[in-house]
Amino acid sequence: MPTVLLTGANRGIGLEFARSFAADGWRVIACCRNPDKARDLKALAATAPEQISVRRLDVTDGLKVASLARELADVAIDVLLNNAGVYGPRTGFGETDYDAWLPVFAVNTLAPMRMAERFVEHVARSERRLIVNISSRMGSITENTTGGAYIYRSSKAALNMVGKSLAIDLAERGIAVVAFHPGWVQTDMGGPNAQITVAESVAGMRRLIDRLTIDDSGRFYAYDGREIPW
Ligand SMILES: NC(=O)c1ccc[n+]([C@@H]2O[C@H](COP(=O)([O-])OP(=O)(O)OC[C@H]3O[C@@H](n4cnc5c(N)ncnc54)[C@H](OP(=O)(O)O)[C@@H]3O)[C@@H](O)[C@H]2O)c1
Repeated sequence: MPTVLLTGANRGIGLEFARSFAADGWRVIACCRNPDKARDLKALAATAPEQISVRRLDVTDGLKVASLARELADVAIDVLLNNAGVYGPRTGFGETDYDAWLPVFAVNTLAPMRMAERFVEHVARSERRLIVNISSRMGSITENTTGGAYIYRSSKAALNMVGKSLAIDLAERGIAVVAFHPGWVQTDMGGPNAQITVAESVAGMRRLIDRLTIDDSGRFYAYDGREIPW
């Protein structure tokens, strides 16, 4: 049974990933900040308790990330899926909330790096050896044609650079690292007018995960398989 470790698994895209992997027989280590309030995730876990384990994890808490990595020391993690993310304040030029910028970086950029450092041995001993960073097309410098969103865009562009360096550094261990754009998805972050459902987004990303090889490492893909320029 392959294993995925997933952050931000209590709602939105993360919850759908948990559902999808579990339905396909994967073992799911479903991490979320507050399991006590994660009603949907706990209900899902109750349907397949031998497959889904819910773990408390705030990805910005370095000590907790390290202690979870120690607790899971014997576990091989086929796919480390850095999904947790925040958008930050939706302010335009001239209204930048500087105090809010670093907290967004802490979740979107620093945390995936920390997860990769703490869980690299777990991934290295698995069969699949894949790290997926859920980024955003808004982090593409080439495809930025509309401006704005300074805080979110810069955090995801920085995440993309983190992923690219990880892909190079971890290649000799046979670990592939990719960035995904999930599409504009109907979640709390994407809003109700977004283009696609979580099911469509996750189905596309699952297909990608199934077919990716080490040759795809260091690349940036949309949920529909299109490669996105950095
Ligand atoms: N929706 C879109 O259109 C879209 C487009 C491009 C990229 N993305 C990316 O896709 C990923 C998932 O987004 P979504 O749409 O599912 O967003 P969402 O519905 O707002 O869910 C965000 C998830 O991240 C978790 N999270 C935030 N801060 C955390 C922390 N410090 N520690 C642990 N978990 C934390 C949240 O947990 P809590 O419930 O505890 O807050 C929640 O589970 C994000 O990386 C996002 O940037 C989304």
